[in-house]
Amino acid sequence: MSVSLKTIFDPFSDDFRAFEQTFTEIMRSDVKLVDQVASYLVKHKGKQFRPALVLVAARAIGEPTRDTYVTAAVVELLHTASLVHDDVLDEAELRRGFTTIHKIWKNKIAILMGDYLLSKSLIAATEIGSLDIMHTVATVAKRLIKGAMFEIQKSRSVTMSEEDYYRVIADKTASLISACCELGALTVGASDPQRQAMRDFGEHLGVAFQIKDDLLDYEASSGILGKPALADVQDKKVTLPLILALKQADDGEGKRILKAVKKGIDKQKLAWVLDFVQRYDGIARARERAEAIKQEAVDALAVLPDSPAKQSLIDLADFVVNRKK
Ligand code: FPP
Ligand code: MG
Repeated sequence: MSVSLKTIFDPFSDDFRAFEQTFTEIMRSDVKLVDQVASYLVKHKGKQFRPALVLVAARAIGEPTRDTYVTAAVVELLHTASLVHDDVLDEAELRRGFTTIHKIWKNKIAILMGDYLLSKSLIAATEIGSLDIMHTVATVAKRLIKGAMFEIQKSRSVTMSEEDYYRVIADKTASLISACCELGALTVGASDPQRQAMRDFGEHLGVAFQIKDDLLDYEASSGILGKPALADVQDKKVTLPLILALKQADDGEGKRILKAVKKGIDKQKLAWVLDFVQRYDGIARARERAEAIKQEAVDALAVLPDSPAKQSLIDLADFVVNRKK
């Protein structure tokens, strides 16, 4: 059975408060417009899953310090920067149910605010005074941007192989989740094998997380007529359940499905895509992949001593692949 995210992170609430205080300090600026956008972002913050991961990873190895809280703020700033930019790229109207920055303040300000948050993140990382930490943060920023570019490149071609898909989600999603775990470990003086274990755990956790995210698009739609179904397919996105179904199907129908998805699909054809993915076991096969990769994440933790924080990371891995939203 998998427990809720709140139950998993509850034992770390003191660490979390220390992070939030540090985050607020770092966000401050002397330009009113920056503060206005920053306040809006803070007011509509998300689950803060990534900074929480830094804290738990640190606890699994040692005693968190101010460096740990600053690093948690660094990843939250970087993540927020990438989302502000992503919403410009995707022309998204809403983020977490609220109007996006570029819809309120226009693209110019959204781009500058994203750049500002990225710079703030890099400066905060520098202030810790560790080249290892700085290098890890800069590398993840590069992977996020490279991942977004590769995804655009692939979206222009008709096919998306299983390998391409893994490459996109490794860079766009797993890179930051992996860096959170590695950085948390680095702030408490992890040994090289411990650092590597955390990095591997996070990379696998991130891939499993994204596969599940993509699965939810299909799981939520299965059998429920009239629901805003297959949002990714409507956005012309080809994700793992469809990729795995395409691998099983005969070329003719597969080609017709891909062509329809890439052209932009109507309601009637959506039912056809869902039926196709179910007929060729795309959902079940993607679930198997997510479960196997989650297990690799858990196995990576074997070198760490048993502790409540390590157990929380294992619970988190279970939560990630079993969640219903
Ligand atoms: C969400 O993707 C977006 C990301 C995971 C990051 C994308 C990265 C960039 C736009 C590069 C900019 C990076 C920096 C460091 C400034 P999604 O559109 O698939 O998911 P969504 O539904 O949450 O929008
Ligand atoms: Mg987006």
